[in-house]
Amino acid sequence: MSTEQIVLVVGASRGIGLSLVEQLAARPDTTAIGTARGSCPALEAINPKIKILTLDLLDEESIQKAASAIPELDTLIVNGAVGARDPVTITSTEKLSEYLNANVLGPHRVIRAFLPALRARKTRRIVGISSAGGSLVRQAHPAAVGLMGCYSTSKAAFNMMLVQFHNELQKEEEEEEPRWTVVALHPGFVATDMGKNPHLLKLAETAGMVGMPPAESAKGILKVVDGLDYTKSASFLDWKGDVVPW
Ligand SMILES: NC(=O)c1ccc[n+]([C@@H]2O[C@H](COP(=O)([O-])OP(=O)(O)OC[C@H]3O[C@@H](n4cnc5c(N)ncnc54)[C@H](OP(=O)(O)O)[C@@H]3O)[C@@H](O)[C@H]2O)c1
Repeated sequence: MSTEQIVLVVGASRGIGLSLVEQLAARPDTTAIGTARGSCPALEAINPKIKILTLDLLDEESIQKAASAIPELDTLIVNGAVGARDPVTITSTEKLSEYLNANVLGPHRVIRAFLPALRARKTRRIVGISSAGGSLVRQAHPAAVGLMGCYSTSKAAFNMMLVQFHNELQKEEEEEEPRWTVVALHPGFVATDMGKNPHLLKLAETAGMVGMPPAESAKGILKVVDGLDYTKSASFLDWKGDVVPW
C-alpha cells in the first residue's frame, strides 16, 4: 500500500507557510502543494517537485479553481492570515470585517472547497494555523498579550468554526473509519513579517523573548501534525503539541 501523503499549505508565499512547504518538499514520501496569491519565486525556488497553486483567501473563484486541480488530498493546512495591532475600540467595523474575511470566511471557503479531495483519501486531516491570541481563556485574563483586538476576534471565530467542522464531519462518518481530524494549531511566537509587528517586538523585548525562526516552528508543527489522529480532533494545540485552552 502506498504511504504517499499529499499535503496542501494555503498561504505559503512567506513566513511559516513557506517553511512548511520547504520541509514537506524534502520528504521523499510526500507531495507538497503550496498556494500563493500570485507568482512566488520563493516557492518556485524550493524544489521543482512541488506543486504551486494560485489562491486568494478573499476570492472564491480562485479557491474553486485551485480545488479543481487537486482531486485527492490527505492533509489541508490553512495557514494564510492577516494580523496587525488593531484594537476593537478604535478600529472601524469595516476593518474588522476585513480580518473576518481573510481569517474566517477565507478558511471557510477553502475548507469547503477541498472537502471532496479530502474525502477521496482516508487521512482526512484539517489543520487550521490559529493563534494563542484567539484563546478566550487567555485573552480574558488581565495579563493578556499579543496582537489582540480584531486579530484575536478573528482567530477565536476561526477556532470555533474548526470545532463546527469537526462536529459536522464526525457525524457524517458515524462510527466507521475513516474518521476526520480537525485541529487548531498555535505556531508559537515566530520571527515572520507578522511576528515582527512593532507592538509584538516591544512586548517581547520587555519579556526578554525572541521570536523563533519560521523553520523551527514549521518543524514543530509538522511533528504535531504527523502524530494527529481522530482522537485528537477538536483540540487546540501548539507547535510543541501542548494543549492551548480554548
Ligand atoms: N508569526 C507569529 O508569531 C504567529 C503567532 C501566532 C499565529 N500565527 C499565525 O501563523 C500563520 C502564518 O503567519 P506568519 O507569521 O507566517 O505570517 P506572514 O509572514 O505575515 O505570512 C502570512 C501569509 O498569509 C498569506 N495571506 C495573507 N492574506 C492572504 C490572502 N488573502 N489570501 C492568501 N494568502 C494570504 C500571505 O500571503 P502574501 O504574501 O500574498 O501576503 C503569507 O503567505 C497565520 O495564520 C498567523 O495568524 C503567527
